Amino acid sequence: MSQHKVKRRTILDLQQMKTQGEKISVLTAYDYPLARLMDQAGIDVILVGDSVGSVVAGYDTTLPVTMEEMLYHTRAVVRAAQQALIVADMPFLSYQIDLVEARRNAGQLIKEGGAHAVKLEGGVHVAETIRSIVNMDIPVVGHIGLTPQSVHRMGGYRIQGRAKAQAEQLLADARAVADAGAFAMVLEGIPADLAKEITETVAIPTIGIGAGVDCDGQVLVIHDILGLCEKYSPKFVKRYADISGTISDGISTYINEVKDGVFPADEHSF
Ligand code: KIV
Repeated sequence: MSQHKVKRRTILDLQQMKTQGEKISVLTAYDYPLARLMDQAGIDVILVGDSVGSVVAGYDTTLPVTMEEMLYHTRAVVRAAQQALIVADMPFLSYQIDLVEARRNAGQLIKEGGAHAVKLEGGVHVAETIRSIVNMDIPVVGHIGLTPQSVHRMGGYRIQGRAKAQAEQLLADARAVADAGAFAMVLEGIPADLAKEITETVAIPTIGIGAGVDCDGQVLVIHDILGLCEKYSPKFVKRYADISGTISDGISTYINEVKDGVFPADEHSF
């Protein structure tokens, strides 16, 4: 009997989706169980984001995340996902020092992590780095606007591109990222009309987060949409489930049953 093999999404599929006006669905994942569930649900792209630092490790920013941590989480997601395209984030300091380090680290995420593409933050200033990685045949996703690794330069997680000069800079960033050979770009925390203009300007798909409905696709952090991250909830997050309540109830019941000697029952014993 022949086994049905699932066809994995490719960067060509994403380009075609933009051309045909089909929206691209993207979620972050950092572990096997959640990556498996979203893959089975039919997500187009899984991003192993450096947001792992905030939502899993409990840091205030993404800056402390290391290559080792990204490799660990990327491997877990890769083992789980059969049909989604998997993009791994390049963490802070893995691509900013020089092109050699950037190329080596991007290569590691593909070779040792098993990702299909990498993502890095920045516009005009990282265009040369994007080009250099693309020249190794590694697909790259750009990320412009509110770039979390620039939190200190931005003075916090603030919407970018409201002023005319900033909007013009973001348009230049978008063109630079596309011209450098990125196959897609994340637009984060920018006004919806600017995201629309960028989406109509560049030929590659735009993936929005806090960037309005006119982007070619949308990405959100899985912990945010499941209600697993109570630290803060930005305006652009929509909560699709409240998993925290379910988990807390389960844990409380377990504690009570252990205390009361109700668990383990006969059926859990040998
Ligand atoms: O790290 C991340 O999860 C991201 C998305 C929010 C786009 O970069």
